[in-house]
Amino acid sequence: MKFTENIDLSQFSFMKIGGTGKFLAEIENDSQIKELNDLRKVHNLPVVLVGEGSNTIFNDNKHDKIFVQFKQKDIIKLYENDRNINVKVSAGLNWDKFVDWSVQNGLSGIEKMSGIPGTVGASPIQNIGAYGQEVKGVITYVEVYEFETGKFYEIPSSECNFSYRNSIFKENLGKFAIVNVAFILNKREPDFPNYKDLSLYFLEKQNKKPSLKEIREAVLEIRSSKLPDWKKEPNCGSFFKNPVVTNAEAEKLLEKYPDMPQFKAESGYTKLSGGWLIEKVGLKGETINNIKIHPKSGLVLINAGGASFQDLEKTIEEINGKIEKSFGLVLEVEPNLIK
Ligand code: EPU
Repeated sequence: MKFTENIDLSQFSFMKIGGTGKFLAEIENDSQIKELNDLRKVHNLPVVLVGEGSNTIFNDNKHDKIFVQFKQKDIIKLYENDRNINVKVSAGLNWDKFVDWSVQNGLSGIEKMSGIPGTVGASPIQNIGAYGQEVKGVITYVEVYEFETGKFYEIPSSECNFSYRNSIFKENLGKFAIVNVAFILNKREPDFPNYKDLSLYFLEKQNKKPSLKEIREAVLEIRSSKLPDWKKEPNCGSFFKNPVVTNAEAEKLLEKYPDMPQFKAESGYTKLSGGWLIEKVGLKGETINNIKIHPKSGLVLINAGGASFQDLEKTIEEINGKIEKSFGLVLEVEPNLIK
């Protein structure tokens, strides 16, 4: 295990915001996690997992914590039959490398989640999703190490409390280290995509039966036309969740705003578009407190240069102030903010 002191946390945040951290522990094999737990007890400090930093933002202060990064990158086949294959993947593997591997091996189930930044280990935390797929649909179990008990165990998908951008891992940050994630992938051809942007893409090309590879390439193309490159414009993807309201509330809003986009959510609920709300209050494309609201997707906030954590907090307040005044709604922040 590599152990470093006094680290710059902005390097672990795709928004390039963050103070300093007391320690960084880099874990190269599962047995080192126990070593890490002993150190945690000696120093009596909390542990924070950082992945690649695509969805975490730390405040500008000094954090007396142990930051942990997993370096393992294995894909292990667990079992296979005519229709499916079950694999166990290390938390440290880059998510998109795993998607690329699945597409290259003719396995469907995650191809529409191409291009999502971050690690495999981070994928269950927010229950990542895009273009009609959510990771909860392919996870069979998550193998964790629980710091308090010092035990490794498998949490079956049904017990992960997955919902839209949420899970038990997000609700209990710091309780577990996600060590491996097991997935079930399909050997059959992919269905025709039913997500608007993606189906339009293939309809325009008159491609009625896109292959896995074509779907992956289309998603990568659509994403790069809509989402800014974090290396050039530091951002965490969607900064807010799309709000979910009851069907009754959605109907009332539609009477008042007939052009409001609405999408079916779980039974009895409707998903609204946070990007549309931000657009309607006139903030899309604007820069406030050194934070730019992406001109192509209102949900994405960009560090326009030298933004501090306070700048970000002020911006969240200003955006939500306007949205609450106009629509009576408040947007929930999507990335993990570590204060
Ligand atoms: N829309 C607007 N204005 C905007 C953005 C969106 O009116 O500025 C409306 C449009 O009607 C559009 C609809 O909202 O058709 C959906 O927009 P889009 O497909 O761009 O998706 P999104 O709601 O902005 C969500 C996810 C993304 C994911 C895309 C595609 C969340 C928080 N975000 O964004 O995930 O890539 O759908 O599936 O659910 C992320 O989580 O970081 C992320 C990028």
